[in-house]
Amino acid sequence: MSSLVLLNPQLDDKKRTIDSHPYRHDDYLDDDVARRLAEQGSITFTLALKHGRPLLNGSLSDPGHRLRRLRQIRSTGRRSQTMGKVIASATVSLDGFIADESDGVGPLFDWYQNGDVPFNGGDPERVFHVSAASAAYMEETWSQVGTAVIGRRLFDITNGWNGRPAAGDAVFVVTHRPPTDWPFPDAPFTFVTDGLASAIARAKAAAGDKDVSLTGGDLLGQALAAGLVDELQVDLVPVVFGKGVRFFGAYDGPPALLGNPKIVQGDRVTHLRYDVRR
Ligand SMILES: NC(=O)c1ccc[n+]([C@@H]2O[C@H](COP(=O)([O-])OP(=O)(O)OC[C@H]3O[C@@H](n4cnc5c(N)ncnc54)[C@H](OP(=O)(O)O)[C@@H]3O)[C@@H](O)[C@H]2O)c1
Repeated sequence: MSSLVLLNPQLDDKKRTIDSHPYRHDDYLDDDVARRLAEQGSITFTLALKHGRPLLNGSLSDPGHRLRRLRQIRSTGRRSQTMGKVIASATVSLDGFIADESDGVGPLFDWYQNGDVPFNGGDPERVFHVSAASAAYMEETWSQVGTAVIGRRLFDITNGWNGRPAAGDAVFVVTHRPPTDWPFPDAPFTFVTDGLASAIARAKAAAGDKDVSLTGGDLLGQALAAGLVDELQVDLVPVVFGKGVRFFGAYDGPPALLGNPKIVQGDRVTHLRYDVRR
């Protein structure tokens, strides 16, 4: 039986080797761990091949999906050859801003806490409570995120989420000046100094067939102009900012044609997904 390691931040970052469990599958949680996780609510976990790098993570809400995916990886011995998409996403005001002039998101993020359904996208200390429609949408989209590319300003504002990626397994930070005092050197953060295209390429390679999440703002403007964006995911909030940080940064390319949106209506937010036409 091959063993797996359960990496669970809420269990003091202990690595737990699962050698026995009531299931026939050698790639599943044992009852004791599953019960403890369930008692803690919706929690994100990572399954990794022993001595290998993390392969999967997600929440207990759909363990079957991860099990199927692990079997798929095992059956091929590696990730699928299919490349994931580069998806730029943000919560955006009706007039196209992702933050005010002080980098505050204000009412843009109200929808993350205006519902009854808990959703945990990666950090167990960041649990959202959203409408059922938004929770289903987030489960579908966030579970596809393999890696993220962010800019240095967001990294500084969030302190790199204290070393825990907000979504996905690894973060690539585009910057001209890597930090010298990052207090989480073992965290899955890579500082990329040779440009955005390089960061996206590295993030794609690390994500395998999962998606790369790209933050809006400065990076989106550059990436869209360079033809590096496959999809936009806009969480549109009914508020007008008038000024602030623009979703499309300083984009100055030709008109970028998008497909018709797929639409999910939440509470005080409309989730829109657009393919970028090439
Ligand atoms: N509403 C939402 O959903 C949402 C989500 C995330 C963030 N935000 C907001 O977005 C804002 C941050 O976005 P932002 O667009 O202002 O900044 P950003 O994309 O986070 O960071 C921009 C910085 O990244 C570095 N960088 C960018 N392109 C580079 C390149 N090609 N090569 C090397 N380094 C490069 C530069 O920093 P250095 O030169 O200093 O290295 C640049 O100043 C914040 O206000 C945040 O609150 C909103």
